[in-house]
Amino acid sequence: MKKYRTSYKPSDKLCDIVCSDDAMLQVLNRFEIPLGFGEKTVQQVCDERQVDCATFLCIINLIHSEVAYSVNDMAVSIPSVMEYLRHSHHYFLDFCLPRIRENLVKAMQITNKMTELILRAFDEYALEMRHHMNDEDQKVFTYVSGLLQGQREGNYNVLAFAEDHHPIDDSHVEARLSELKNMIIKYYAAEENDLLLNAVLEDIFSCDRELSNHCLVEDSVLIPAILKLEKQLPKR
Ligand SMILES: [Fe+2]
Ligand SMILES: [Fe+2]
Repeated sequence: MKKYRTSYKPSDKLCDIVCSDDAMLQVLNRFEIPLGFGEKTVQQVCDERQVDCATFLCIINLIHSEVAYSVNDMAVSIPSVMEYLRHSHHYFLDFCLPRIRENLVKAMQITNKMTELILRAFDEYALEMRHHMNDEDQKVFTYVSGLLQGQREGNYNVLAFAEDHHPIDDSHVEARLSELKNMIIKYYAAEENDLLLNAVLEDIFSCDRELSNHCLVEDSVLIPAILKLEKQLPKR
């Protein structure tokens, strides 16, 4: 179903936004906005929780409408975007993936060559995701923190990160996740109509969607914002 492309505003009620698109729940979580905000508007909740409202709106509108964002349209706060992405990394590595693995082990009760292969593929995928995200936390965010303090390293720039971010080969984290889904759907011979296995697959599909949204924020918000910042600072 095609998404209804509307643009959320500071005066919209946050509860209406979440009810119109459940993908917004993950965004709330990453901005550390707890539920229970009653009838308050986006602006009111952001003010209360000390969240940068422009950044929050930029991200929810991007995820909701998938419309490419122009960094000149709205002044996002780079520290807020980085904090959002850090929370997102923590969610994938320390909550989402361990939960999926635990349920996958429970769901695949038979131990055979195929279940071993599926678990190995999952572990390789999770490890690759960990490397990818740790690299961003350590290399990219450290570099950006330097830029925010007026320091620009001569041998690194955000274009190098942008080029590496979506290598067109099968080792990319998103491609690996699709491979894993296919292994389970095509080759795991379930003995019966297995509700738990279906639930795990749904979690994997949902993790895949969340990961796409995560990459979208990095590619369409973080990278253009850093490019703009780099242009303002001369190389050393
Ligand atoms: Fe990331
Ligand atoms: Fe990334």
